[in-house]
Amino acid sequence: LKVIEKVSEMQALADAWREEKQKIGFVPTMGALHEGHLSLIRRARELCDRVVVSIFVNPTQFGPAEDFAKYPRPIEADSEWCRREGVDTLFLPSVEEMYPDGNQTYVQVDGLTERLCGRSRPGHFRGVATIVAKLFLCVKPHVAVFGAKDFQQAAMVRRMVRDLLFDLQIEVAPTVREASGLAISSRNAYLTPEEKISATVLYQSLNLAESLIQSGERSCERIIAAMGSLIDAVDGTRVDYIEIVDEVDLQPVAIVDRRVVIALAVFVGQTRLIDNRVVEGGWRSFPR
Ligand code: PAF
Repeated sequence: LKVIEKVSEMQALADAWREEKQKIGFVPTMGALHEGHLSLIRRARELCDRVVVSIFVNPTQFGPAEDFAKYPRPIEADSEWCRREGVDTLFLPSVEEMYPDGNQTYVQVDGLTERLCGRSRPGHFRGVATIVAKLFLCVKPHVAVFGAKDFQQAAMVRRMVRDLLFDLQIEVAPTVREASGLAISSRNAYLTPEEKISATVLYQSLNLAESLIQSGERSCERIIAAMGSLIDAVDGTRVDYIEIVDEVDLQPVAIVDRRVVIALAVFVGQTRLIDNRVVEGGWRSFPR
């Protein structure tokens, strides 16, 4: 495993690989690697000759009251995961490398980022789009792999790649879950054992929504209300949002009459967790 801290060194390596016609796969992360990241790394490995993982806790995507300072940074363990997964290069830049002289240039994707997590985390997606664009310019990947748990992020990155004419493919890999259904996330590390049990209600509420749709319910208002009641019944939880949106433009829908994404963010104690599920709607999909 080669560890690179300098942007210029990363770019030179990427250029050399491209000269040799090696296909570069890239998994951008903020570290605290877990099974979810490993599935992204494995996907990149399947699709490419070389795999680069970046670990960079990006200050511009955290709000002032968020967890930038306390975000876990277990760099030794992360390097070990990468080594074991056969990652070629771990790109580990400092804040000064990625934001020399501070920053005056940002990437802003309109529309897709205004709802859902964008509403409760102002500036978050601007920070993500900016750092992902910069990382693409460092790693020069042919394929970049993102997780479906952050489906709004993945949709935004796809749109950014299209709009800014980046010449690369975005691949989205399925959410990895614990046996309880809890979506694996670096922020699960903040949960107490009791909170971890409470947190399974996100998954349960998605199951409830899907079973309501399968039994013929089409009203998003009623589905959202049922999910909200289930979550509110669990002590220590607070719903940030539950939305049902069109899979492509992420605009809210009133009736489940197409493929939709059911998405939610819930505070469990102090920890904000997200999850989502794509559900086939349409009148023909399910017997009434
Ligand atoms: O999903 C993440 O871990 C981050 O948002 C990303 C894509 C690495 C950008 O900092």
